Amino acid sequence: MLNKKTIIAIDGYSSCGKSTLAKDLAKSINIAYVDSGAMYRAVALYFIDNSLKFTDSSEVNIALAKINIHFDIIDGVNTTFLNNNNVEKEIRSPKVASIVSEVAAIPEVRTKLVALQREMGETNSLIMDGRDIGSNVFPNADFKFFITADPKVRAERRLLELRGKGIESSFEDVFNNLKHRDHIDTTRKTNPLIQTKDAIVIDNTELTKEAQLALILSIINK
Ligand code: CDP
Repeated sequence: MLNKKTIIAIDGYSSCGKSTLAKDLAKSINIAYVDSGAMYRAVALYFIDNSLKFTDSSEVNIALAKINIHFDIIDGVNTTFLNNNNVEKEIRSPKVASIVSEVAAIPEVRTKLVALQREMGETNSLIMDGRDIGSNVFPNADFKFFITADPKVRAERRLLELRGKGIESSFEDVFNNLKHRDHIDTTRKTNPLIQTKDAIVIDNTELTKEAQLALILSIINK
């Protein structure tokens, strides 16, 4: 379908279905998908597991030198590895969600992960979702989408997704975490979440995932 190397950036608020969309789109047009949020989550998990204070920049730098993140496809599912351990389930836990945005606001963390993300897009086509993909990681991306949805609908969807993975939480906790992360992500100094002028904005509050995918495919195929 695409006849040249293509980078598709999908940015937006917490839990607005970016990764579901990105995965479905990647399958439809047969290109790789990278979940940049999973990388920030893996760093946050490392900090938790090693009881590190992420406010101490020397501890942060020592930790970053020891962190190795890669993705692999396991049983057809994009899976995140931290220092060669499969952490796909753990990085989705509420304990990681509770600190990930603070960790993602640390400039040294961003420098390391953004460099890795750019490397991934050097030779191959890919779809990457996150917060700063169209604004910072790939400012020259071929397509930039900015996804948004009503916060309560986002929290409901995330709650269902967590339950589906056997992770119990309450609507209130999920909703508060989502608002907290949106606030940090949009107000941090380094590469905040912003809507770039050249991004196509999609509010999916009322859209099914199939309708959203069809809309995006029609834009890409134009
Ligand atoms: O899926 P969800 O919306 O919960 O978030 P995610 O994509 O897994 O990202 C987790 C967190 O990582 C976000 O709340 C951001 O704080 C951070 N993040 C970021 O700062 N920059 C990115 N490119 C991707 C994620």
